[in-house]
Amino acid sequence: TMTTRSVCLSSAIALALLAAAPTRAADAGSVIPKLIPQPSQIVQLQGSFVVDAHTAVRAGDGDVVREVGRQFKAMLGDDWPLPLDLSKDGSSQNKILFALDNSRSWASPDAYTLDVDATGVRVLAGSGKGLYYGAVTLMQLLTSGAADAHRVQLPALHIDDAPRFGWRGVMLDSARHFQSVDEIKQLLDAMAQLKLDTFHWHLTDDQGWRLPVPGWPKLTEVGGCRIPAGDGGVDAATGAPVPYCGFYTEAQIREVVAYAASRHIDVVPEVDIPGHATAAISAYPQLGVSGAPIAVSNEWGVNKNLFNADESTMQFLQDVLTQVATLFPGKFVHIGGDEAVKDQWKASPKMQARIRKLGVKNEAGLQAWMVARLENTLTAHGKRLIGWDEILEGKLPASATVMSWRGTEGGIDAVKKGHDVVMTPSDTLYLDYLQTTSADEPPGRPATIPLAQVYAFEPVPKALDAKQATHILGVQANVWTEHMRSMARVQHALFPRIAALAEVAWSPKQDRDYAGFLQRLPAMLPRWQHAGIGYAQTPFQTQPDIQPGAATNTAQVTLQSPLGYTTRYTIDGSAPSASSPQYFAPLQLPLPTTLNAQLFFDQHALAAVTTRQLTAASLLTRSDEQLAMCTGQL
Ligand code: ACM
Repeated sequence: TMTTRSVCLSSAIALALLAAAPTRAADAGSVIPKLIPQPSQIVQLQGSFVVDAHTAVRAGDGDVVREVGRQFKAMLGDDWPLPLDLSKDGSSQNKILFALDNSRSWASPDAYTLDVDATGVRVLAGSGKGLYYGAVTLMQLLTSGAADAHRVQLPALHIDDAPRFGWRGVMLDSARHFQSVDEIKQLLDAMAQLKLDTFHWHLTDDQGWRLPVPGWPKLTEVGGCRIPAGDGGVDAATGAPVPYCGFYTEAQIREVVAYAASRHIDVVPEVDIPGHATAAISAYPQLGVSGAPIAVSNEWGVNKNLFNADESTMQFLQDVLTQVATLFPGKFVHIGGDEAVKDQWKASPKMQARIRKLGVKNEAGLQAWMVARLENTLTAHGKRLIGWDEILEGKLPASATVMSWRGTEGGIDAVKKGHDVVMTPSDTLYLDYLQTTSADEPPGRPATIPLAQVYAFEPVPKALDAKQATHILGVQANVWTEHMRSMARVQHALFPRIAALAEVAWSPKQDRDYAGFLQRLPAMLPRWQHAGIGYAQTPFQTQPDIQPGAATNTAQVTLQSPLGYTTRYTIDGSAPSASSPQYFAPLQLPLPTTLNAQLFFDQHALAAVTTRQLTAASLLTRSDEQLAMCTGQL
C-alpha cells in the first residue's frame, strides 16, 4: 500500500502543476470575463482598458441614466478600491459611459450592449432595465479577477446581450416561515445581479396568512399566527405556548414592491384559492365548508380545508384580489389552485347543491367556476391570472397563464390549449430539495437536486414546435419553507443553484455549457460574500467517506467533490494549499492520521478545510447525520 500511495502522490503533484500553468499565464494578462448569466453574444477583441483611480463614470443624461450610475456604484460597494467618480465628465480617454440609445431597435427592454476599447467602456440600452443589466455585467467584469487596489485591466470586447426568456423567476414561501423586509430586499438585490426579474411571493397558506386586507382584520390577527408543533416553547410567565406570528403591513409591501421595481423585478403575489386556505378559514370560519372553528395549521403537507363557493365567500375573495391589485402594480396575480383535494366539497350537501345550482359538472367544474370568477375580477383591475397547473383540470379562461409544477406535462398540455406557461417542475426547480448528499446539509426534503440538474433544465419541451414554444414565458425556481425557519436556510437552498437558474433563463440554449459555468461560478462566491449571502458551502466542500483499509490499521478514504472541483489534501496536520497533493483515487492511510481536505479552483480554496481525525475508534462510529437517508420519491 505504501508504495502505491507514494506513486500516486508524485503523479498527483505533476498533474496539478500542469493544470496550473495556463491559468497563471492568463492571470498575468487581463481579466477573463466571469459572467453569469453568460451573455447572448460576447466577442473578445485585441487590446484592453485599464480602470484606475482617474476613471470617471459618466451617467448624467436624465434621471434614468443617473439612477443606473448610482446603482452601478452601489453594486461595487463603498469599499471598492477605485473612486469611479460619478460627478465628473471624465476625460475622453478614460471613462465609463452609460447612455440610452434609441437610434437602434433593441431585441427586448432587457437588452444592452457593452463595449470595452482602449478609451474606455460604453454601456448602451434602450431602457432603464437594459442599462441596469449592462451595469450588472460591468460590475461582474470588474470583479472577475483578483483586484489590485489601483487598477483593473479589462480585455477589449463587444457584448450584445438580451435574454432568452422574459419570465426569470424565484418563488419565496413567506407563509410557512416568515422573512423580514430586509431579508427579502437582500434576496432581490442578489436576484437582480443575476438578471432575474420576477419575484413570486407566496403569501397565504394553511400555516399562515401574511397579507392585510381592509375589512378583514382577523386574516392577519388570527390567520397570521400558529401554535408551532413540537418545540415552539412556552411563555415563561404564563406557561402558554408561544405562537409563531407574522404579516407584512401595507407599507412594508409597498416598500418591497418599490425596492423590486427599482431593480427591474416584478412582484407576483400569490393568494392560494381554494385550497391551502386553513389560515383564512381559522380567521373567518364562514369561509370554510363546515363553518366550524378550526386552528391555523401547524403541520405540513396537503390539508383538506377548502374555501366554500358561497356568494359571500366570492365577495371576500373579490376584496382580497382588489387589495392585491391595489398593492401590487405588476401584470400577474397568482391565485394558487394547487392541491385542492375535493373531499369536503364532495361530502357537503350545501356544496353539492351549489354545484347543481351553478350547473357545473362536478367539483373540478366548481373550482373552474371559481377561477373564472377570479379571472373576471382580475381582468377588471387590468391584471392577468396565473395559477398552478391543477387549474387545467377544469375549463380555463383563455387568458389564464399556467405554472407547470407537477413536471412539465401540465405546461405542455396548457400550451397545446393556447395558454402561456411558466416552467417550474418540482423534480428540478424546487430548491427546497437538498443539493448534495453531504452530512452537513440542513434539514430539507430528503432527495437531492444537484446544481448540474438545475443547469441542465430545458424550459421548452421537445413536444412543442417553434410557434408553440413562444407560449413558454420562462422559468422559475421555488423555495418552500416548511423546513426553513430562517433566511440563512433559504439562502443555503437558493445559492448557488440560483446562478444555474439564471443561466437557464437568460442564455441562448446553444451556448449553455456546464463546464464553462463551473469555471465562472467561483467568481460569484466573493460577490455573494460581499453581499452577506450565506450561500451553501456543501457543494464546495469534500465529503470524506472513511472505511477500514485493506491492511490492518489503515483507513480507505474516498473524497468526493460535489461539483468536480480539484480536491487537495494533507495528512501531516497542515492546511492544504494550492500545491498540496491532488486527490485522484481512494487513499489508503495509516492510522492514526489527521486528514485535511479542501477543494480548489484556479489556485484558490473554495471553502473551509474539512478535517477528519482517523483513528481505529473513529472508524467504528457514525454520527446520525452521516447515516444514509431513506430517500422517498420527489
Ligand atoms: C405546489 O408545490 N403545491 C405548487
